[in-house]
Amino acid sequence: MKTILTGIRSNSVLTLGNYLGALLPMVRLANEHSKDYNVHIFVPDLHSIISDVDGDLRENTIRTLKYWLAAGLELNENIHIYRQSYVPAHSELCWILDCVATMGETSRMIQYKEKSKGQESCNVGIFNYPILMAADILLYDAEFIPLGEDQFQHIELARNLAIRFNNRFNAEIFTVPAKTSDQVKFMEVDTAIRIRDLLNPEKKMSKSTVAEGSKIMLDDAPEKAAKKIMSATTDSLGKVKFDMFNQPGISNLLQIEALVNDLPLSEVVAKWNGETKYGELKKAVAASVSTMLSDFQARLANISDDEVYRLLEAGEVYANKIANAKLLEVQKAFKLR
Ligand code: TRP
Repeated sequence: MKTILTGIRSNSVLTLGNYLGALLPMVRLANEHSKDYNVHIFVPDLHSIISDVDGDLRENTIRTLKYWLAAGLELNENIHIYRQSYVPAHSELCWILDCVATMGETSRMIQYKEKSKGQESCNVGIFNYPILMAADILLYDAEFIPLGEDQFQHIELARNLAIRFNNRFNAEIFTVPAKTSDQVKFMEVDTAIRIRDLLNPEKKMSKSTVAEGSKIMLDDAPEKAAKKIMSATTDSLGKVKFDMFNQPGISNLLQIEALVNDLPLSEVVAKWNGETKYGELKKAVAASVSTMLSDFQARLANISDDEVYRLLEAGEVYANKIANAKLLEVQKAFKLR
């Protein structure tokens, strides 16, 4: 059986943008494929510590896993849930891949360049991030890694490392992950979906934006979230049209309305196209978002820590077994064993 693998860092509470643009599409994909694929869902907690963590990392990890469940992940025996730091083979393979990767290719990673830009001293973890990520993927022979576009370069790096490693030892030790173009086909979703900042809709909604009104957090009270939608920046053109370039605020609201109600964007656009009272659209979106949030929060409150720990216990036994077997093959190739 082929493997699908993905993870979301849990440095803080997630935004509505993370939920609609990342979590929900991944949950749908997992539910669709978990009968004929192994599905690995893990929390890359070692990746979290390259930067500040809001609150307690362990609690954030448990909360993120509850998000997956509250978002509708249907569990079965093919779904494996674990924490990266509880599977030591990730760090160990990372070191070995450090000795396969070159400074040149790793220095070209856009995310590294952006994250290190302007920092007086950048930690080595920020640089090494994509190599650890390659280890996360290659340990389990994962073929499909559903992620947003900003991570495609990292998937390509993992592919290159797998190919180089296999060639060096003239053996198919790692499964080479699918090309990003095939990843996109597999996901069947528009990876360009980016929920925008409510006050500055030219930008992506981000948890690190200071202005409260810019973002909706998954733990916002539903009424508060509704108010944020009502205060969202629009434009002075006075006619609803889906046009991200000229009317990003309105287009963002249409996008949110579609995703929250699980409707095709085209249907929502057709319904609102030409509407001159922006307030009407805002009221509808505010109602949709607040209903979604209160349902989501109710589901979240019903998931106990014990339930999550039970899943982790089984998932980590399984993950260690698979990962250690792969690590041993790699160690043997290098004559470490
Ligand atoms: N880089 C991913 C993110 O920032 C998190 C991540 C780490 C990941 N390792 C991974 C995702 C391996 C998929 C596969 O969201």
